[in-house]
Amino acid sequence: MRASFSSSKLFPAGVLVHGIELDTPSEATLLAFDGIGIPASLEKAVLKRRVDFAAGRFAARAAMRACVPEVAELAIPLGADRAPIWPRGVTGSIAHTAGFAVAAVARTDAASAIGIDVERWMRAGASDRVADHITHGDELDTLVRASEWGENEALTLVFSAKESVYKCLYPEVQRWFGFHDARVEAIDEEAGAFVVRLLVPLTPSLPAGLRLHGRFERRPEVLMTGMARPHAHTGT
Ligand SMILES: CC(C)(COP(=O)(O)OP(=O)(O)OC[C@H]1O[C@@H](n2cnc3c(N)ncnc32)[C@H](O)[C@@H]1OP(=O)(O)O)[C@@H](O)C(=O)NCCC(=O)NCCS
Repeated sequence: MRASFSSSKLFPAGVLVHGIELDTPSEATLLAFDGIGIPASLEKAVLKRRVDFAAGRFAARAAMRACVPEVAELAIPLGADRAPIWPRGVTGSIAHTAGFAVAAVARTDAASAIGIDVERWMRAGASDRVADHITHGDELDTLVRASEWGENEALTLVFSAKESVYKCLYPEVQRWFGFHDARVEAIDEEAGAFVVRLLVPLTPSLPAGLRLHGRFERRPEVLMTGMARPHAHTGT
């Protein structure tokens, strides 16, 4: 582990973020995540997957220590659908990309669900290869025209924002939904915020046309995005 960092830009107060920068995966890297058990289903996975898993859980435990210390040492099992299973009264989200792992955690009275994502900035030419999978119609062109963002930067944002949306809404939707089921409509550089519109109905309380708000934070090597659903009773 090279360094750790936090972020106060991605979520409202009450949601704790912990990020770590990782060395090249090795058995020694794995040992650094002391106390994080690798589940039986991942024991035969490649080293990078085991390191990613342990690093994500390590980041989540650090965020839980700051936010819900009474349950911070509990394991966060991996669900059959791959979603993490948080202790009662806690919600959170985990993401990793080459060299980074991040987690966001909150009490469920602060947020009912959270999605976080981290992506390395896409390089020149990436948009030709993956844009059609991630964006639909004039989505990318519209964002590039309306912002200062170049095509690869905007595509990184769209990809990451949609992964955050997926992780945030999954507990409610309980099924897979794709990149073409939502559209990133706007990027507000000054506020570090983005708007996503659902293009299909996902549940009765997530109808087509619903606009969801998320935030982003630029770092030199990566872009982080986050989205939180308000607590059901407060609507805040
Ligand atoms: C599930 C998905 C979001 C995970 O992305 P990924 O490429 O593995 O990479 P990330 O590092 O960002 O995220 C991995 C973490 O997401 C979490 N995750 C996986 N499935 C999840 C789910 N259904 N709900 C919430 N979180 C989930 C896990 O914590 C996982 O890490 P872990 O296995 O170490 O616990 C992605 O692969 C996917 O299937 N996306 C579906 C399509 C989509 O994004 N649609 C957009 C709709 S707008």
